[in-house]
Amino acid sequence: MKWCVIGAGGIADRRAIPGILKDVGSQLVAVMDRVAETAETIGKKYGVPYFTDEAEMLSSVDCDAVYIGTPVFCHYDQATTALRYGKHVFLEKPVAMNAEEGAKLVQAFKDAGKQIAIGYMMKYHNLHEKAKEIVQTGGIGKVCDVRAQFTCWYPEIKGAWRQKKSLGGGGALMDLGVHCIELIEFLLDEEIEKTQGYCVNRTFSYEVEDGAVFVFQTKSGALGHVDVHFNVPDAVSESKLELYGNSGCILCTGTLGQEETGVMRYTYAPQGEYSATQNRMVAKPQEFFGEKSDLYCKQLRDFRENVERGTLDYFYADRAVQVQKTVDELYRQNENK
Ligand SMILES: NC(=O)c1ccc[n+]([C@@H]2O[C@H](COP(=O)([O-])OP(=O)(O)OC[C@H]3O[C@@H](n4cnc5c(N)ncnc54)[C@H](O)[C@@H]3O)[C@@H](O)[C@H]2O)c1
Repeated sequence: MKWCVIGAGGIADRRAIPGILKDVGSQLVAVMDRVAETAETIGKKYGVPYFTDEAEMLSSVDCDAVYIGTPVFCHYDQATTALRYGKHVFLEKPVAMNAEEGAKLVQAFKDAGKQIAIGYMMKYHNLHEKAKEIVQTGGIGKVCDVRAQFTCWYPEIKGAWRQKKSLGGGGALMDLGVHCIELIEFLLDEEIEKTQGYCVNRTFSYEVEDGAVFVFQTKSGALGHVDVHFNVPDAVSESKLELYGNSGCILCTGTLGQEETGVMRYTYAPQGEYSATQNRMVAKPQEFFGEKSDLYCKQLRDFRENVERGTLDYFYADRAVQVQKTVDELYRQNENK
């Protein structure tokens, strides 16, 4: 698969391009960035032609697929442009500024018979795959409660697109919360149906929220809670993902993020009779560790293999739109706060 990249400077250079280069079936053929200096630096770094205009790149370079790693407000237009040139698109998360825009985009790819996928790479983490297998085979019984916490330190930065609603679509919820929602829906294999939450600025005074907390209920009735923050120092950020069922639990620490790290503790401890002593945490968990392979390579390889098999699959693209519906609802609830 010959890849062009739009928005070469940020996550593309740090993660996606190295992922493309590690995949034996993929090849980087050109890069584009709106900032000329970035386009040139990245083009020279990887030894490929570089451009500052996506249409110019797509009309002059032979490629099969386009990776788009630009700010959220660019996603819809640039993915649509790539589709006009007949390309498959791997688009960074979130799919678009809102669910309506995302749904329109995914529909356009379905109509044209081209693949689109969204960069929710955390489901490719070996521990999350293992957690899903445990949950889906009844290993913790009926899921009662799910929790996710994902934070980083993101202070005011002049001109940062993520700190402006019109460019990023939102703050901590739009940037970090979407990963949690997508992963939870992947693990449970069902959608969040109802949600209630708060978006606030507790530490920073930029336009978008620096923290969000929400509770939810899934279609089958599992409850959950997500908290995401831009105002917790990186040095003390240790992500949490916890699933409790009526026969056991899965507790992940440090598995949310860009690397396949962390640990998962799985405990199976079904209980029959009520016990007045309520002995807690006496069951011994099984421990599993991250593989430290490359999540970005895995997700791009999966995308390539789908295209090559001719099995265009919109399941996760549709889910990315569903994720956005939950986010839209939470922003609607917080409109006037
Ligand atoms: N999946 C992940 O792990 C992950 C991590 C970080 C960012 N992201 C997503 O990737 C996207 C980019 O985020 P980032 O952190 O890399 O941002 P960034 O600002 O660091 O990098 C974006 C790059 O795009 C370029 N750019 C800006 N506007 C452009 C345009 N109109 N056309 C072409 N290039 C343009 C910028 O010059 C820059 O080089 C966002 O959607 C973000 O949510 C995903």
